[in-house]
Amino acid sequence: MLTAIIVAAGSSQRMGFDKLFAVLGGKTVIARTLDAFERAECVQEIILVGREDRLTELQEIVRGAELRKVRHVIAGGVQRQDSVRAGLSMLAPEASYVAVHDAARPLITQDQIERLLADCRVHGAAALAEPITDTLKRGDQDSFVCGGVDRAGLYAMQTPQIFSRDLLVDAYEAVAVKRLSITDEVSAVEHLGARVLLVPNEEFNIKITYPRDLLLAQSFLDRRPVS
Ligand code: CTP
Ligand code: MG
Repeated sequence: MLTAIIVAAGSSQRMGFDKLFAVLGGKTVIARTLDAFERAECVQEIILVGREDRLTELQEIVRGAELRKVRHVIAGGVQRQDSVRAGLSMLAPEASYVAVHDAARPLITQDQIERLLADCRVHGAAALAEPITDTLKRGDQDSFVCGGVDRAGLYAMQTPQIFSRDLLVDAYEAVAVKRLSITDEVSAVEHLGARVLLVPNEEFNIKITYPRDLLLAQSFLDRRPVS
């Protein structure tokens, strides 16, 4: 069975207000994200990890939208990896695969989730990613160019990222023991030397980070056929 951990315990510093409660196409960002996982047939259970001070509002959203797969609404931690860890501690015994997804990526669809799980079943670990298309430069501390990075073979990592349960749990144990700082799950399992399939995402799956991203996501939703 597949459990989805939705991490929603960030502080939206770059946005300036709680971005997960911004409204896109008549729904909050968080409700839109949860809805995609609720609809994906392959997802049996959802663990929602939120900020301690917003748990009541999150529970209301879950009730109001009748999200029946959400089993737990729990508090996250200071860093994203602490929030993922909190989610992992609530996994049902039957969970054999775990998807971790940023609540701040509300454009994800049930089809993308289902296709990614199919890849994970074959390879044990699969993550959505986007090949880099911009030219990459390194900047020095005064913001002058001080070198380039060849973009061939480089990807910007997205979520969801899906893993066999044991692999992800072991990876997070290793991260805790070695006190590593990581920003996604692929970085955690890499430390165990595990192979992860990169699945190029042809759809638009931005992470809502700055105010401009809300405009972009809204204009995308205005054009996307209703599913
Ligand atoms: N997240 C989390 N717990 C944290 C930090 C982040 O659950 N301690 C979640 C966010 O809620 C978001 C996802 O991880 O869904 C990706 O993080 P990011 O886009 O950086 O969101 P924020 O941390 O909220 O934003 P900022 O970095 O601008 O403060
Ligand atoms: Mg952050």
